[in-house]
Amino acid sequence: MAGQQGGDRGGFGSRIGFVLAAAGSAIGLGNVWRFPYTAGQHGGAAFVVIYLVCVAAICVPVLFAELAIGRASRKNPVGAFASLAPGSWWPAVGGLGVLTGFAILAFYSVVAGWTLGYLGRALLGTFADPLTHEQSVALFERIEGAGIIPVLLTAGFLLLTALVVRGGVEAGIERAAKILMPVFFVLLVAMAIRAMTLEGSAAGLAFFLKPDLSKIDGGVFMGALGQAFFSLSLGMGAMITYGSYLSRGDRMPGAAISVALADTVIAVLAGLIIFPTIFAAGGDPQAGPGLVFVVLPSIFGKLPAGFLFAIAFYSLLVIAALTSTVSLLEVVVSYFVDERGWRRERATWLVTFACFLLAVPSALSGNFLDWQSILFGNYALTIGAMLICVFVGWRWGIPAAVEEIGRGGAPMPLAPLWGLIIRWIAPVAIAGVLIYIVATGNYM
Ligand code: PFF
Repeated sequence: MAGQQGGDRGGFGSRIGFVLAAAGSAIGLGNVWRFPYTAGQHGGAAFVVIYLVCVAAICVPVLFAELAIGRASRKNPVGAFASLAPGSWWPAVGGLGVLTGFAILAFYSVVAGWTLGYLGRALLGTFADPLTHEQSVALFERIEGAGIIPVLLTAGFLLLTALVVRGGVEAGIERAAKILMPVFFVLLVAMAIRAMTLEGSAAGLAFFLKPDLSKIDGGVFMGALGQAFFSLSLGMGAMITYGSYLSRGDRMPGAAISVALADTVIAVLAGLIIFPTIFAAGGDPQAGPGLVFVVLPSIFGKLPAGFLFAIAFYSLLVIAALTSTVSLLEVVVSYFVDERGWRRERATWLVTFACFLLAVPSALSGNFLDWQSILFGNYALTIGAMLICVFVGWRWGIPAAVEEIGRGGAPMPLAPLWGLIIRWIAPVAIAGVLIYIVATGNYM
């Protein structure tokens, strides 16, 4: 394995391999499933504006911070803090990240299981003709609410994830991501074009793109901030872990910005598909976690070769979800491999099994899933990201981080501004949103 750092860790064979694998982690159900329904629940375009501001002003700087911690320490999140701040309590922040990763994987794999169910349906030809809104809702209930079926689909998805992680970083993750993400992008563009030309779609486009700023409240801020961290895989050490596999000679800034850009473009594309389609079909944009699943079946039948199109789309969504679940599992497994000396194989199977047990309640109850998604997907990631800023800004130090980022020949752009954001702006803004949420009791 090229770029190997000894033991069972492995590394990326090339910089482009890293970009695609990190983009693979970032791009997933967070973009296609969670972004549209969260935007729908929080007023549409007003949410989108806040989301974009959060990504640019807070998340991209945090992404640099995580990659720097990872490459400087070459460790999993717990070991990374321990090696950069020996003898302190900072490794507990890494520990929080590992736990968060585990908990996110437990609900994420349930939704990923639904996508497997839809792929099965696509293969059976269910989407060859456009489904009415009522038929789509009924189908969703049959896949998501059918007792044992979602549990089995979750187990299937976790099994796929474990098989990739067991193989190690380069062999498993890199190869898959390299070819398939660009294909996914092309399909999404085609679907967005079709959605925007549906009769009655204009209202959906306006809902998604024309902000009504009076809709902004604390809940919109919290939702957008949490979603931005979730979508970029930040706040729990996934990017610390991937940074640890990036080699010293690689130029980091361009890689980080490409990942953030690709992730944001895919989320916006998903919105451009979902909202025009749901308004055209007369559905409710506030439908919640089922939104994407009930909206999409009405569009495939209106695309050329809809039958094949649906198969291709759900296959690629499964793969996009897989490159994300792989990164979630990888964080937890790399902790056990590095810190506890477990063999990769053993760590992979034990963690996967434990995760399945935690996933069962989410597979059986939409409420439990929703609650887990908010607690871990929004709050734990946001708090984790705030602590990462405090760590880099006040403990490890901006100069050391800037030097690490610039290793490999491309210096950190706007380094003084970045330092200001990491030390002051990001942690104060995040703390402000959290305090405001607690004070107003508006938790979602
Ligand atoms: N970013 C992934 C997505 O948008 O689907 C989800 C995710 C992966 C979140 C890895 C956090 C993480 F560490």
